[in-house]
Amino acid sequence: MKISLGPQTFLSPVPVMLVGTFDVDRKPNVMAAAWGGLCSSQPPCLAVSVRRSTWTHRALLERGAFTVSLPTRAQAGMADFIGLVSGKAEDKFAALGLTASAGEHVDAPYVAECPVVLELLLRHTLELGSHTQFVGEIMDVKVNRDCLSPDGLPDPVRVDALHYAPLVNEYCALGDFVARAFAVGKTVKRQS
Ligand SMILES: Cc1cc2nc3c(=O)[nH]c(=O)nc-3n(C[C@H](O)[C@H](O)[C@H](O)COP(=O)(O)O)c2cc1C
Repeated sequence: MKISLGPQTFLSPVPVMLVGTFDVDRKPNVMAAAWGGLCSSQPPCLAVSVRRSTWTHRALLERGAFTVSLPTRAQAGMADFIGLVSGKAEDKFAALGLTASAGEHVDAPYVAECPVVLELLLRHTLELGSHTQFVGEIMDVKVNRDCLSPDGLPDPVRVDALHYAPLVNEYCALGDFVARAFAVGKTVKRQS
């Protein structure tokens, strides 16, 4: 039997994204965002939903560019701090001793200590209520060499991305490899 929880912001754990921007004074800033994800394949796009009250919201509109750095499970404390403190009040890169590397393709900084980084150009905004959705076109994906599988693609187990579980407010990590996508379904026996 299922228990109804009503209308809630729930999905199974989602990746924690660290959204990097240059603010009005060109100071690098970064915030944590869990509301968002991939939203188009061609062109490759990713959306993040950001509250108007954040320092990042203004920077996104002014710069039209952002990065997404993926923290690891070992970086949970750092990611949580980035989600608790505003860049309006404190330089989070300095406070955490992090390196703000300038994007190669977009006018936004990323967290060099994170193993995976996406560079994005802002293409669309959508007012949704509490949040504005910012849709960015992915201009590049950078991955630490030691997180690549032998075929040169990002290995999810090696990347070890930090995830956030809504409602229970917990951080968790991915488990093991389960099966190959777009393949294992072909072995299923139809019941009818
Ligand atoms: C795990 C986690 C996820 C978060 N997700 C979002 C989000 O999706 N959108 C949002 O606007 N704020 C989110 N926040 C809150 C912002 O990161 C927080 O308000 C931050 O201080 C904003 O930084 P800024 O003012 O420097 O932009 C999240 C915080 C945490 C800890």
